[in-house]
Amino acid sequence: MSGGRWIDLSGQVAVVTGAASGIGRASALALAEVGAEVIAADLDQAGARAVADAIVAAGGRATARALDVTSDAAWRDLERWIADEAHRLDILVNSAGIVGTDRVGDPGTEAYRRIFAVNVEGSLLGMRTALGFMRRSGHGAIVNVSSAASLAGASIMASYGASKAAIAHYTRSAALEVARAGHDIRINSIHPGVIETAMADAFCEIYSGLGPREAVEARMTTGRFGRAEEVADLVVFLSSPRASFISGTGIVIDRAQSA
Ligand code: NAI
Repeated sequence: MSGGRWIDLSGQVAVVTGAASGIGRASALALAEVGAEVIAADLDQAGARAVADAIVAAGGRATARALDVTSDAAWRDLERWIADEAHRLDILVNSAGIVGTDRVGDPGTEAYRRIFAVNVEGSLLGMRTALGFMRRSGHGAIVNVSSAASLAGASIMASYGASKAAIAHYTRSAALEVARAGHDIRINSIHPGVIETAMADAFCEIYSGLGPREAVEARMTTGRFGRAEEVADLVVFLSSPRASFISGTGIVIDRAQSA
């Protein structure tokens, strides 16, 4: 027995989008706990700073960056900053996301466009940025936060589910492409069920017809929503060398809800 930590990401640099809240926040904290230097990126700059401050206060390394994931220019800025200040990028967690409603056949396409811009385009721009560094170093791990909503239809949330299915499919193709190019770069998606975050509140509001929150939770296989920390553990595992033979796949984390 070496006595070392089972997962040790010391010396590795991780960008986490959506790091100010929920799954992104928990992932940023968990990655820092196992030694990664975290770049906490979010539209909500104050929230990202609070997370970075919490990591530093606990003895870790972190920086907060304002980032609108839909902005090509903002990603270019971040790319320059990483090249100048962090000099490397080993891990990307694409967690920034929004949920919204739209009815199939609605005349407007605003909701669809916004949801796809953040959930799909935002993740693609993130992958482009990360792969630039990772192809040069020859290694890296990317975790795209998709959703269990990508696995089945859901009325009044078609665009959200479709956006999450799109990123899951993109994940598989991208993983195949980098593996065939001979890089040690792994790209996976994760598919959480309902997780206790600000988005779960939005979800309950959208489906308020199902009854109060307790009634929604009671329908879950476990009688409760998942916790962001439970998802973060999966993110850390997939980001680490412990998952060295896992790439191009999607892992559902919903305690049998969609089984
Ligand atoms: P959350 O609402 O707590 O956090 C989302 C974060 O993304 C926020 O900090 C927000 O400021 C940030 N964000 C939104 N738009 C952005 C943009 N354009 N640029 C940069 N940051 C932006 O939500 P949660 O639950 O943590 O969601 C994280 C991911 O997990 C999302 O992709 C979501 O679709 C996915 N997910 C969430 C589930 C849930 O039940 N909470 C279930 C399955 C997937």
